[in-house]
Amino acid sequence: MSLTRVPGLLFGGDYNPEQWPEEVWAEDVRLMAEAGVTMATVAVFAWSRLEPAPGAYDFSWLDRVLDLLHEHGVAADLATATATPPPWLVRDHPEVMPVDAAGVRLEFGSRQGYCPSSPVFREHAVRLATAMATRYGGHPALAMWHVGNEYADHTLECFCPESARHFRAWLRARYGSVGALNAAWGTSCWGQHYTGFEQVEPPRRAPGPVNPGQLLDWRRFCSDALLELFTAERDALRAITPGVPVTTNFMSLLHGLDYWAWAAEEDLVSDDAYPDPADPGSHVAVALSYDLMRSLRQRPWLLLESAPSAVSWREVNVPKPPGMMRLHSLQAVAHGADGVMFFQWRQARYGPEKFHSALLPHGGVHTRGWQDTLRLGADLRRLAEVAGAATRAEVALVFGWESWWGLEAPESMPSDRLRLKDLLLSWYAPLHARGIAVDLAPPDRDLSAYRVVIVPNLYLCTAEQAKALAAVTGELVVGPFSGVVDASDQVHPGGAPGPLRDLLGVAVDEFWPLPDGATQRVRHADGGTGLARTWAEWLRPDDDVTVLARYAGGDLDGLPAVTRRGRATYVSCLLDDVTPVLDRVLGDVPALRVPPGVEAVRRGRHLFLLNHTTDPQRITLPFAGRDLLTDTDLRGSVGLAPRDAVVLRIEGDT
Ligand code: GAL
Repeated sequence: MSLTRVPGLLFGGDYNPEQWPEEVWAEDVRLMAEAGVTMATVAVFAWSRLEPAPGAYDFSWLDRVLDLLHEHGVAADLATATATPPPWLVRDHPEVMPVDAAGVRLEFGSRQGYCPSSPVFREHAVRLATAMATRYGGHPALAMWHVGNEYADHTLECFCPESARHFRAWLRARYGSVGALNAAWGTSCWGQHYTGFEQVEPPRRAPGPVNPGQLLDWRRFCSDALLELFTAERDALRAITPGVPVTTNFMSLLHGLDYWAWAAEEDLVSDDAYPDPADPGSHVAVALSYDLMRSLRQRPWLLLESAPSAVSWREVNVPKPPGMMRLHSLQAVAHGADGVMFFQWRQARYGPEKFHSALLPHGGVHTRGWQDTLRLGADLRRLAEVAGAATRAEVALVFGWESWWGLEAPESMPSDRLRLKDLLLSWYAPLHARGIAVDLAPPDRDLSAYRVVIVPNLYLCTAEQAKALAAVTGELVVGPFSGVVDASDQVHPGGAPGPLRDLLGVAVDEFWPLPDGATQRVRHADGGTGLARTWAEWLRPDDDVTVLARYAGGDLDGLPAVTRRGRATYVSCLLDDVTPVLDRVLGDVPALRVPPGVEAVRRGRHLFLLNHTTDPQRITLPFAGRDLLTDTDLRGSVGLAPRDAVVLRIEGDT
């Protein structure tokens, strides 16, 4: 099933015609058609132009834009335009602007200036979404709804009195009584015992470290509060246009929002991804976030924004060298995207993003950028048959946002160097290098379909989650500092790994974080050695536990570092190289061996080979087939130029 009614792989970008005189629009749509653009994201920041005065709409210009797009075969990903409130709303209701943790109310003049809990903002946003759906529900260009924009990009939280009221209501619903809140937050520590909900405030700037239980609930609340804002608009749209899919663009592996919960509320998952061209490892980190997007609903997703070349918001904005835009786009398709879209169509002449690259650069159709646009459009047409194809992964990486929030709480942890993204990548990168497909999964999902389940870290682990992990039928690998606290961020009785104790057969006597730059040697059972950084633990294993690696040297000398009971492996440190563990647990999980820097990704009947290096590569083909990009038959081996790609339709029944 395709994501929208538009066939093939979607191609296009954000289109902001309101930033241009109308004469330019005709050229826009002509060039879109020339490049094979099939979808444009429209009206994301257009509220002030659509509703210039309260309740007085001016849709005439957007009518003409949508008509023009449709006449040129371009569908609309139509935004509800609520990503920035108009100035009149802020002047009439200054309380819609967010307040920071120090109590400063932010001012108008940028974007996303709204308090997530503001009823006034919500009412106006829903009113506009309703008006948009009423006006455009029957327009033939409308293919999908785009609600808000990158929730939590600028505004994740607000500390105003309205947010405090909303937080208290959320806490009442969660705990029922203030006694239950006191117990959950451990308010007997540092004399914080509350006698009524009205005394509870958001975790504003305080003299010292803030109660971690309060912080964890605040993180949950902030994700939920924005989600409520999203679903309010979504419901208004669904009531009028039930058949039109609704999305909001995610921001890859974002700390602030629980995307497992969010994805369940939208019709299709879409993502914005901006890997840094200056970072040679960025294609690995971005592959992880693409796999997350595919895993959120376990179906294809849409890359709704990416950069054709340089962005404008890093300190140094390096352009994408020749070939990289195409390669990165094909990479997204390899990892399950059914379309590749960009920010933005025409490069702006003004505003903070005037130096951000675009599909149509300042220099127009004679630029290398425009040639890249034409080439990518043609390539995506060649790959149309890939749309809808599923990915089959036998390995799952498990993580959840609650645990992430707990793990990275400020000022109260054994080390603030233990970061979830590093932990995930320490496993994902070597799997990716072996061409092994990986799903991401939340800790409470049924994991029985996977042959290998890796939990890089589950600091916060409930009894139910431990049960789900115990039910894994394949190999289970659990990383350090897991099973430490319960859902209230309280240490499990008896210490780590808490509810995982029997499953893993180890007790953690002491956490042993390593200072910056320090390493701890580890000796594997086969005699090989490795290094741990950042984190180690003093373990006490049960008698029936096999020790797969021991710490070598230093204070932990001779103590177990990696252990195994049954099919459950525990890794108590952050290893530089997890190869010995992977070699043991992967068994015959299908891998695709390719040279370093070349990515091999299987999607349905297609094999993507992506050369991220600047050297030519020769690759032995595991299958014969037809390269869809060059329309040639390949067997045996194939040569890949620097930053080039092959997309093989595998021959026969595999
Ligand atoms: C995204 C945003 C776009 C644009 C883009 C530039 O975060 O959604 O509106 O600002 O970044 O890279």
